[in-house]
Amino acid sequence: MVRIGILVSGGGTNLQAIIDSRLFGEIPNSEIAAVISSNPDAYALTRAKSAGIDSFVVDREIFPNEGSFNEAIIKKLHDLDIELVVLAGFPHVLDKAIVEKYKNRIINIHPSLLPSFACGKAKELIPHEMAIKEGVKISGATAYFVTEKLNSGPIILQKAVEVSQDDTAITLQSKVMREAEWSILPRAIALYCIGALEVSGEKVKIIGEIQ
Ligand code: GRF
Repeated sequence: MVRIGILVSGGGTNLQAIIDSRLFGEIPNSEIAAVISSNPDAYALTRAKSAGIDSFVVDREIFPNEGSFNEAIIKKLHDLDIELVVLAGFPHVLDKAIVEKYKNRIINIHPSLLPSFACGKAKELIPHEMAIKEGVKISGATAYFVTEKLNSGPIILQKAVEVSQDDTAITLQSKVMREAEWSILPRAIALYCIGALEVSGEKVKIIGEIQ
């Protein structure tokens, strides 16, 4: 059973997608052991509570710098015996110590087809603003294993979304969440939990029957 720790900070729609997917039996061999929020007011905490999942706050505001905040996160993950870390709308950069300790065990979702628009943090609109500015006809989302390089790492799954002429960064954000993020993030977690992900260098191979 894979013990999953989900890091959140905001509304928790991605968290909800994972919870629902698990309830539908789509993420076998898994347990959501904890939800950890960097924001004490995150609605994601209410979602965790409603689903009966233990939740914890590691409040970014009370730490003097990113280093001490990262130390508190890694301690929490260690104490909770987390195997797989999922960033679900978590707008903080994880440092070298966490990324090395959980190598190929931290999954993030980014709202663009990486490596395009690999900028901005999770909660920001920047990737969508860039997509609109560049006039791309297709955008989407990417689930990948976190490395030290921001928004870059072995890609697990991607899903494309059409950009219409009338889209704004806001409407595109909502479309990408609904049509891509909420499906590929739970799916990437499921593939990890059934042992179907093989990382070789910079690439992820999906092995076994489910592809
Ligand atoms: C959205 O901006 C999405 O693109 C990014 O996180 C935000 C969603 O947050 N990955 P949440 O899951 O509703 O907290």
